[in-house]
Amino acid sequence: MSNPWMFFRRWVANPLQMGSVVPSSAALCRRIVRHTRWTDDQAVLELGAGTGVISRALLRAGLPPERLLVVEIVPAMAAHLRRMLPGVTVIEGDARGLAEIVPTQWHGRIGTVICGIPLVLLPLAEQRRFIDTIDAVAPGSGFLHFSYCATSPLPWRRHRLTARREAWTPLNFPPVSVWRYQPA
Ligand SMILES: C[S@@+](CC[C@H](N)C(=O)[O-])C[C@H]1O[C@@H](n2cnc3c(N)ncnc32)[C@H](O)[C@@H]1O
Repeated sequence: MSNPWMFFRRWVANPLQMGSVVPSSAALCRRIVRHTRWTDDQAVLELGAGTGVISRALLRAGLPPERLLVVEIVPAMAAHLRRMLPGVTVIEGDARGLAEIVPTQWHGRIGTVICGIPLVLLPLAEQRRFIDTIDAVAPGSGFLHFSYCATSPLPWRRHRLTARREAWTPLNFPPVSVWRYQPA
């Protein structure tokens, strides 16, 4: 099954959970990689890895597979990620409970969290759950989040965050921004 087709079928099944009809473009992946940081003893954590386009871009950029952790809620996609990403820690589960599902050896040792889960349409309390669970495993470091909104997809002041648009590209369907949110 091709990646875009798998993605599209999941969008038909649950459009709010997928948030997009097609996987992220190469242009968006490049921009995310550019703003992803890690040191020699840190991992990168990707939430909502889908078909793994961003994961593969990170590996191509030199991130060792044993230091990439990806979380995906849809079992068929998690299975696909395991097949496509040897050596990567693929966690099938709900990213709202990161403290329970991310191996404890990585707690506090995550260079960048990339959140590909669509947060914009969630109620404030649900958004807060994601923000808090990220902070539980990557205290103080915040996260990257991409969104098709013209303005910030999160009401960052209400969540006591700082927000910075790191990148924007029209070379994605739809055009997309990469935001960095950090605890204020
Ligand atoms: C917009 S897609 C992004 C996929 C991929 N990262 C990309 O850029 O093409 C959102 C992904 O988040 C996953 N997802 C949604 N809610 C989730 C949750 N609570 N926990 C883990 N994954 C979730 C969906 O199944 C989907 O694969």
